[in-house]
Amino acid sequence: MFVPRDFLLSLAILVLLLSTPCSSSFEKTEEKIKSAMFLSPKFELGPGSVINKFYYDIDFPKGHVAIKSFDAEVVDEAGNSIPLHETYLHHWVVARYHLRHVTYTENDSHRMLQNSDYVLVRNNGICQADILPQYFGLGSETRGTPTDIPDPFGIEIGNPADIPEGFEEKWLFNIHAIDTRGVEDKLGCTECKCELYNVTVDEYGRPLSLDYKGGMKCCHDNTQCKLKVGFEGPKRSLYLKYKIKWIDWDDFIVPVKAYIIDVTDSLKLSNDSKGTNSDHDCKIEYQVESCSRDHEEENGCVHVKRTSLPLQTGGYVIYAVAHQHSGGTGSTLYGQDGRVICSSTPSYGNGNEAGYIVGMSTCYPKPGSVKINDGEILTLESNYTNTKDHTGVMGLFYLLVAEELPYQHFRHSTSSSFFMD
Ligand SMILES: *[C@@H]1O[C@H](CO)[C@@H](O)[C@H](O)[C@H]1NC(C)=O
Ligand SMILES: *[C@@H]1O[C@H](CO)[C@@H](O)[C@H](O)[C@H]1NC(C)=O
Ligand SMILES: *[C@@H]1O[C@H](CO)[C@@H](O)[C@H](O)[C@H]1NC(C)=O
Ligand SMILES: *[C@@H]1O[C@H](CO)[C@@H](O)[C@H](O)[C@H]1NC(C)=O
Repeated sequence: MFVPRDFLLSLAILVLLLSTPCSSSFEKTEEKIKSAMFLSPKFELGPGSVINKFYYDIDFPKGHVAIKSFDAEVVDEAGNSIPLHETYLHHWVVARYHLRHVTYTENDSHRMLQNSDYVLVRNNGICQADILPQYFGLGSETRGTPTDIPDPFGIEIGNPADIPEGFEEKWLFNIHAIDTRGVEDKLGCTECKCELYNVTVDEYGRPLSLDYKGGMKCCHDNTQCKLKVGFEGPKRSLYLKYKIKWIDWDDFIVPVKAYIIDVTDSLKLSNDSKGTNSDHDCKIEYQVESCSRDHEEENGCVHVKRTSLPLQTGGYVIYAVAHQHSGGTGSTLYGQDGRVICSSTPSYGNGNEAGYIVGMSTCYPKPGSVKINDGEILTLESNYTNTKDHTGVMGLFYLLVAEELPYQHFRHSTSSSFFMD
């Protein structure tokens, strides 16, 4: 008699599942964790120079898996860690995209990549369009900020059901780094002060407004920050070294959604074909005026910026962390009733790294203990000291949210995929 192999296999899996109590499946996750170290493409930096590069199709775990952590740091060709006062890591972000399979034949080898061949697959929100679309990403704090996602949660990637026919899932890096060896003003260079870069137009040649004093428009790819007179130093080749942990997908893993809330965001009304809409308006960066000039701020030179926005779909917070730049003193996300969802504070380095944020504290609420309701209005607060002014600062909050808890998820997947099918 002919018995299809698949049938035997699924029978074997079913038997295995039935004989394994679900609690031990959760406990065993650790043994199944895979981990790999990768290097980004090489980038070259000389004293005062800047790279802001996009690298497509980076090395990434393949197949249907759950990402458990993503750690990164800048290293040189010998693998040595590079300190922040030499190369300031402004940010690295990792985004997902779908790319159409193209079978090149001799005749179309010069074919240009069509726009429709590339589709950015953004995180779950909440900024407009393709602003802050990343699933992973940090800045100078990268070495000192935990990224582990506790069991049984994970960021689901590579699910064939989510990849359109004819497309492949791929990942890209955006890496922005500033070499501050020998510069006149290290903090100024890392804050992208326009006068230090002698920049008056953006990277597309459009003039910057006169009140734009600093930010990413002044430290785009290939710009140069002002060096001390006569300083010379070698160019060097660097990499972003990154370590990913993941686990093969199974029905015991509970997926989390990734959200980024930006303190510069506001909802603005706009018109589209469907009528009047309210759209997010994330500007990513903002300026902090120094308190001597800011007469309204009389609270010991703390600059407080806040925004309030609804999160359409809520869930249970599994992990949360803020992102701030030098001068940041902490950031808190509040629920609509004023409860603290997460408070994340920076730690500053010592010695050569004094003044740089080298880590951000994270929140790992006991799963189920911190819930955001659907449509709940969240308030994000980002504080900076403003004894002096700061340009190009950020106030982001990164949230991983599970829509179900493990026992709910298990009940759901048990009934739908193992017994009812
Ligand atoms: C490629 O182009 C040549 C001439 O233009 C044509 O003869 C040939 O059939 C084409 N091959 C394919 C695979 O389209
Ligand atoms: C600044 O830029 C202007 C024109 O873009 C150039 O003429 C001038 O020499 C630059 N100054 C420095 C110090 O590089
Ligand atoms: C939307 O369009 C209507 C009519 O076309 C106009 O009166 C209104 O001001 C527009 N609103 C915005 C926010 O642009
Ligand atoms: C921000 O500053 C305000 C005013 O000083 C203070 O009430 C609040 O607790 C601060 N928040 C954080 C996260 O430091």
